Amino acid sequence: MSPRKIIIDTDPGQDDAVAILLALASPDEIEVLGITCVAGNVPLELTSKNARIVCELAGHPEVKVYAGCDRPMGRDLVTAEHVHGETGLNGPVLPDPVMPLQDQHAVDYIIETLRAAAPKSVTLCPLGPLTNIATALQRAPEIADAVQEIVLMGGAYFEVGNITPTAEFNIYVDPQAADIVFKSGIPIVVMSLDVTHKALVTAPRNAAFRNIGNAVGIAVAEMTDFFERFDKEKYSSEGAPLHDPCVTAYVLNPDLFAGRHINVEIETQSELTMGMTVADWWRVTDRPANALFIQDIDADGFFALLTERLARL
Ligand code: BDR
Ligand code: CA
Repeated sequence: MSPRKIIIDTDPGQDDAVAILLALASPDEIEVLGITCVAGNVPLELTSKNARIVCELAGHPEVKVYAGCDRPMGRDLVTAEHVHGETGLNGPVLPDPVMPLQDQHAVDYIIETLRAAAPKSVTLCPLGPLTNIATALQRAPEIADAVQEIVLMGGAYFEVGNITPTAEFNIYVDPQAADIVFKSGIPIVVMSLDVTHKALVTAPRNAAFRNIGNAVGIAVAEMTDFFERFDKEKYSSEGAPLHDPCVTAYVLNPDLFAGRHINVEIETQSELTMGMTVADWWRVTDRPANALFIQDIDADGFFALLTERLARL
């Protein structure tokens, strides 16, 4: 089978970085058409720089990286330096990128690429706020036909929220964009906090990254070292959740995950619950299912896959 064509939309972020590395380490299964950057964990200038740092770390300076929207559709930007550090990629010391940022705006790139693509031939993998994707869909609704699936990290039901009591960061930052995406009619797979909080980088898993011994394995161990300080204290967990790589792992092997086809609506009005993913997990409404909401993971299988693939870089 030919590799699945994907566009990674991202706001790196250490966990975004690992998601990108996993994709670039898997060329037999995944063809990364381009990486589009959005403001989220840190401002756009840094996310579009960090994405290139990660491509160079992977030994893939040929990847096309585009800068997109620098703020949410209708709200002020909220960032997460308190989690990811002031660069967004704190932890390892990595060189500034030499590879260029593409001139084209990420939204124009997404529209142009999808207009030229066959029906249902491209998978979108958003790892940050959905601003770029929603802006593209709003400007050129016909591009939805070219999308096979959107596999995104965002939202929560049982875990409820991580940036507010009721909202997950990616959805909270741009609820209006999320609302557009969830109403698009495109098949959506949601890697919620309910599943990513089960993908914990325990000490042995972190040691396995480090023991790979290549530059990528050491950098990934140093990245998880950095953000686990915050997460371990916050959740009293045995390690930090590795959110965004769940998206790439799902594209590689959906059998590692389990969830339900349900209706998911986004709260865009109430300041108290802004960005909440109102997930009808118990199917108590007759609202039609619009997403596969993932809740469980074979965590050992996930970390085995990740470690094996990072060793290839
Ligand atoms: C999400 O928010 C960001 O901080 C992470 O990169 C991830 O995409 C988790 O809520
Ligand atoms: Ca992210």
